[in-house]
Amino acid sequence: MRVRILGSAAGGGVPQWNCACAGCRTARATGVHRTQDGVAVTGDGSAWYLLNASPDVRAQLLAAPELAPGPGRRDTPVRGVVLTTAELDHAAGLLMLREAGALTVCGTGAVLDTLRTDLPLLPALARYTSLRVRCLTPGEPLDLDGGLTVRALAVGSKRPRYARGEPAGERVCALRVSDARGRAFVYATCLPEWTEAFDAFLAGADAALLDGTFATADEPARVAGLARTPREMGHLPIAGMLEAVRRHPGTRCLFGHLNNTNPYAHGGAVGPVEIAADGLTLAL
Ligand code: MLT
Ligand code: MN
Ligand code: ZN
Repeated sequence: MRVRILGSAAGGGVPQWNCACAGCRTARATGVHRTQDGVAVTGDGSAWYLLNASPDVRAQLLAAPELAPGPGRRDTPVRGVVLTTAELDHAAGLLMLREAGALTVCGTGAVLDTLRTDLPLLPALARYTSLRVRCLTPGEPLDLDGGLTVRALAVGSKRPRYARGEPAGERVCALRVSDARGRAFVYATCLPEWTEAFDAFLAGADAALLDGTFATADEPARVAGLARTPREMGHLPIAGMLEAVRRHPGTRCLFGHLNNTNPYAHGGAVGPVEIAADGLTLAL
């Protein structure tokens, strides 16, 4: 299996276009540039799936040689998108894929419903491309082209701000993608808590992209004057995860979905965990 980190920033990216905070100023000065969270995976090197489609997906695809079109005029290795949430930073890029001849979109029932009703991206997209929508039921494996299998674990109930209705289970999930050789990659960039179920979901994975939105619990208040805590925003801070990560020494762990308030958005490593970067590729 090959994995390409398409984008390593939280919603807004680093730097954020309208932000003059210390972190975004530093990013502008040093040239740090992170696009919004997303990954591409393949089992056979020719059929690729995107895990989330951020508003930056067009630039992310253009930057990825593995995802270049061809040999036919409109051939693309991109088969589809597996969504972990219906948040704008994960789903708005679906519209940027409308030129595809065909596209498969997978997500939990709650995510698909949100994208049919509150923000009807799926019906809109179906007017442009041959759209196949597949429901990803947590716990049930879903086979993808190229020998990949994806499983979802429901990890949170946070409702996107644009959506109506109560928070519901399966609005936020982690994904585990495996190939025919048993290699596995876990993608969990929206993780409100590290449960026993998540610990078991991660066990034995070769690599994992974890929620690196915030470094510490006080970061949103201290750096950005925000009232809500990371936990209320659905993101367990890095400081609260390191002990659990150490229980998985065989798994190459990276932090992604870095918010522009996070000092690690400027690089480095946190103990055994790497900080993800746009364009980083993993061969598992
Ligand atoms: C999140 O990750 O918490 C969401 O993307 C927040 C947002 O962009 O509104
Ligand atoms: Mn986000
Ligand atoms: Zn900023």
